Amino acid sequence: YITGGSSGICFGIAELFAQHGARVGIQARNAAKLDEAVQALGAQAIGFAADVRDYDATANALASFGPIDILVCGAAGNFPAPVTGMSANGFKAVIDIDLLGTFNTCRAAHQLLRKPGASIISISANHGSQPYALQAHVCAAKAGVDMLNRVLALEWGREGVRVNCIAPGPVDGTEGMRRLAPTPEIRAAIEQAVPLRRFAQISEIAEAALFLCSPAAEYITGVVLPVDGGSALSGGRLLGQ
Ligand code: COA
Repeated sequence: YITGGSSGICFGIAELFAQHGARVGIQARNAAKLDEAVQALGAQAIGFAADVRDYDATANALASFGPIDILVCGAAGNFPAPVTGMSANGFKAVIDIDLLGTFNTCRAAHQLLRKPGASIISISANHGSQPYALQAHVCAAKAGVDMLNRVLALEWGREGVRVNCIAPGPVDGTEGMRRLAPTPEIRAAIEQAVPLRRFAQISEIAEAALFLCSPAAEYITGVVLPVDGGSALSGGRLLGQ
């Protein structure tokens, strides 16, 4: 069950999991985009139009999907703005989607997780450990997601539920990078800050998600796994700052 699954990284995760035979539920706000994604994923996919900021809507969607082996919390929001160009409501919108949305999804899914053996993966970003100018809302939200991940791993470990995060750097073909790298010049500056000198492909993030929820990772919990070409190593230079 994947929130934010109608586009970007989480659609890529849904595709890969469906290819591996999973019955896939995707939750997203925009019903039209959701329908398109469900069509593209094929017969194993079911769509749920609900906003992760709405606890009851998310809980109802999860309950109608049924028992869950793998939960991916990926719904996220972003826009570049300096703190002085961001209203309190703009800051709150991102905190609510990313952090409260992850809490809502995990909290509401807990009773549906197949235990032992269930796995939760949240899509963070290297913003959780690294400050970026123009990204105060996302940095604060993702740092919260990383810490929520650790607390959930502590609390739910005894039930055999593993809880991990993936922290991508810049990823090609995502709404986030369309917003953060709108020109070739900005894109080139971002690439220069990545030790591997390129953006990730969505499939590379999806492969990491597949690993984390597979038996190959069954002793791994509470980690924030950077899948970022080393970009967290090179300082807060995204956006050419
Ligand atoms: N610069 C400054 N403020 C902005 C902004 C921008 N580029 N875009 C939105 N905001 C502000 C709005 O002005 C509003 O604040 P206000 O009420 O004080 O005017 C606040 O953010 C909420 O905007 P709204 O459009 O009502 O919220 P929403 O819930 O529909 O959208 C966002 C949420 C703002 C995160 C929007 O960017 C979004 O829907 N993103 C989803 C897709 C996405 O970002 N994907 C990338 C994930 S990495």
